[in-house]
Amino acid sequence: MTAKTALISFQVHGDDRGSLVALEDGHNLPFDVKRVYYIYGTKTGIARGFHAHRKLKQLLIAVSGSVTIKCEYGGQNKEYILDKPNEGLLIDGFVWREMHDFSPDCVLMVLADEYYSEDDYIRDYDIFKQEENL
Ligand code: TYD
Repeated sequence: MTAKTALISFQVHGDDRGSLVALEDGHNLPFDVKRVYYIYGTKTGIARGFHAHRKLKQLLIAVSGSVTIKCEYGGQNKEYILDKPNEGLLIDGFVWREMHDFSPDCVLMVLADEYYSEDDYIRDYDIFKQEENL
């Protein structure tokens, strides 16, 4: 099975003032972006996600702080620690994902290739496993 998750590094434009990362459709992004949202102020001990998407492509970037992303697909479990503003985790399609261990300063920015649609969500793990095995 081809990988549905991958880490992508972005070029940092750094100088003595600090750092800047630029993300552009068609240049360094793996898909054209229709939606951006971000998760922040996550309370200690809170985990989020616990769903899969049927088709959605997403790129997750911890622009501040750190978070652990757990991904499951094809019987594989993968865990990624996102803690660099110039690194993104691509999640492409049918992957169960959970977000854990948010640092208090974490700002997790998510880029997506489609608008928000509840129809694309699978929020029940048993249904995810059933549909994955079809
Ligand atoms: P939710 O799916 O619970 O977030 P997570 O999977 O990260 O735990 O989303 C929280 C609320 O935000 C829910 O009411 C739906 C809404 N929402 C939008 O309106 N647009 C979006 O792009 C997203 C991701 C969520």
